This record gives sequence, C-alpha cells and structure tokens, in this order.
Amino acid sequence: MRREDFPPLRKTDLTYLDSACMSLRPDPVIDAVETYYREYPACPGRSHHSMSEKASDELIKSREKIADFVGADSENLMLTSGTTEGLNTVARGFDTQKVFLSDREHNSNLAPWQRKNCETVFLETENGLDIESLRSNVSEGNLVSLVHISNLDGMEFRIEEVAQIAREQGAYTLVDAAQSAPHMPLDVSEMPVDFLAFSGHKMLGPSGTGGLYVSERTQNKLEPLNTGGGAVEDTTQFTRERRDFPYGFEAGLPNVAGFIGLGKAASYLSDIGMGKVESHEHKLTEKLEQGFSDIEEVSYISNGPGVVTFWVDGMDAHQVALMLDRKDIAVRSGKHCVHSWFDQKDVRPGVRVSLHLYNNDEDIREIVEEVKKISYVA
Ligand SMILES: Cc1ncc(COP(=O)(O)O)c(C=O)c1O
Repeated sequence: MRREDFPPLRKTDLTYLDSACMSLRPDPVIDAVETYYREYPACPGRSHHSMSEKASDELIKSREKIADFVGADSENLMLTSGTTEGLNTVARGFDTQKVFLSDREHNSNLAPWQRKNCETVFLETENGLDIESLRSNVSEGNLVSLVHISNLDGMEFRIEEVAQIAREQGAYTLVDAAQSAPHMPLDVSEMPVDFLAFSGHKMLGPSGTGGLYVSERTQNKLEPLNTGGGAVEDTTQFTRERRDFPYGFEAGLPNVAGFIGLGKAASYLSDIGMGKVESHEHKLTEKLEQGFSDIEEVSYISNGPGVVTFWVDGMDAHQVALMLDRKDIAVRSGKHCVHSWFDQKDVRPGVRVSLHLYNNDEDIREIVEEVKKISYVA
C-alpha cells in the first residue's frame, strides 16, 4: 500500500518490520516538516508578523486534524511529546488512590504508577482481559489504565466495555493507544473513556509528537505537568492565572514542525482509511502466522493483527535479530518494554515482527524464508 511514498523503501532492499517501535514516514510528512523550517520558521501564537501568523494557522489546522483522527474535538486534545508524556500527565496530575492495570503494560504505563505510590491492581490477560475481576472490584474514584493493543502480540482489550463498567461505578478510564491509533479506526466520541494517549512516531508522524485526549468532565480534575510561557493568561510576581485545557497544559514553545508533520500524517492515514489499514495488516499477519507455524523450531505469540513475537529454539533473540539484519530485515529483539510480563511469566526475550500499511506479501515471504534458514543452523 503506497510503498513508493516511503524513502527508505525506495532506496534499498529493506524489509522493515519494526513499526511497533517506530513507523516510517511518507514524503508528504517529511515535506510538511521541511516546509515549516524553510518557509515560515517562526513562533506561533506569540508575535504578529506574517511568518508567525502562518505558523499559528498551520498549528491550529494540525491540532484539528490530529484531534479529528481520534474522533476528538480539538479543544479536548493536548499536544504532547508522545504516549509517555500523556500517561505521566495523568499519573502526576489526576488524583486517584487505586489504579487497575493489565499484566502486559508497557513500562510507560507502569513506572508512572509505581512512582505515584498508589495501589495497583493487575488484571490477568492469559485468556483475554479478566473483565469480571474488574467488574467486581472497581469503585468510585478509581482509574482503569490499560493498553488498548499490546505491543507484545497485538492482543486487543475491549476498551468500550471496560470504560462502560468503570463509568457505571464512578471510576475513570485511561487508554494507552500507542499501538491502536496507528492501526485501526478510533473514535473517542463513541467511547466513554476519560483519557487516551498516543504517539506520532508510530503513526507515520515525526518523533517527539503525540496527543492526549481528555474528556470534558475530567479536564478540571487534572493538573498540568508543567507550567510557564503559553500556559498562563496572566501573572503577577506572586500569582498566575492558568489558561484552560489544552493550552494551560502545553507550557513552553511547542514542537511546531513536529505537530505540523503529525497533522499531515493524520490526514495521510485518514485519506487511505484506517479500516483499510487494519484489514491489510490483518491479512499479512495471518500469512506470517501460517509461515511461522510451518517451522518446527519456531514458537510464537500473536493475538491480533500487526504484531507477532517469536522464538527460535536454542537461539538468543538478539542473535536472531542480528542475523536478520544482515539480510536487511529490521525487527526488534528483547522484552519490548514489557519487562514485567516476561519476568512474571518467566519467558525469555523474543523477536518481534510488527507491520504497517507499507508492508506487503514479499516482506512476509522474506522473513519466513530467512527465519527458516536460521532455524536450520540453530
Ligand atoms: C503500548 C505502548 N505504550 C507506550 C509506549 C510509549 O510510547 P512513546 O515512547 O512514544 O512515548 C509504547 C512505545 O513503544 C507502546 O508500544
């Protein structure tokens, strides 16, 4: 799907299978970033000269496109440096004593809660998320903070149902959408969630960009991580008047080029259609699973489209990844920032294959062939 738009795929024989870590960027995104720096590299929202006005207009339009991409009103979307900043903003700034997590959270949805020193309850995911345990234990003022799609194996949690249960009990829901926003249609206006965090660099956008949706009912319960220029209406030597959400939460000069690039990425994906992206990745994942199933020395986990983690009998994951790299196949090896799952289940590090819209049948054929060869020498 539109492979020719992605420079690294035009130049080399690269088989890029590491999109859960970082996606490639298409020409229109790169061009949008470059155009900002070449043509109107000014401070948005500060000065009244033409370049600054142009930067302001482009940033406003980009915020709208990014918000629209997840079904949010732009007034309910804070621009962030990525999912991690979004999750930390909630962990630091939202008052709750008890948080429900799954046993397969990314470190970015684990470490902030450990630091907060609140009670954490882990929901089992062995046979899908243990929703019954949530239903019987969640209560008023709690927060349910869950990964939407696992970066380990693509497992998807039924977020709408979870959020409904939480809301009925007077609790709140935070969604780590780092791996869902780039790969499936999302519409927060149809989900009773309170917070949803995502990253630009996994959805064809520049690194250091992302968004945090905050529901209207929750905005006045949240304190910003930072304060300073741009986030205050007025100050005296001893007082400050904070701006409303989202601006009061975005202190300092924003990553202007990055957000303009992210706006372009959002419209690029929307033009293709996220439903199409999802079904394309689904078909490729089935082919990959089929290919791996035929190799006796390989075991794998895959519980949803786009992500497959595998192990070759008797071989270290990093060694497998390095051997694949020699064939220009880029994958990731290790514990994929879900260390707690690997440690709790006593599973050794794995090799992860992750897909995006630019992958094709040939990529799947390549990796299956090379893993087969590696398995023979194992
Ligand atoms: C599920 C999940 N959550 C959170 C993150 C952190 O995202 P970022 O590094 O963009 O803040 C990632 C990144 O890999 C992820 O896969």
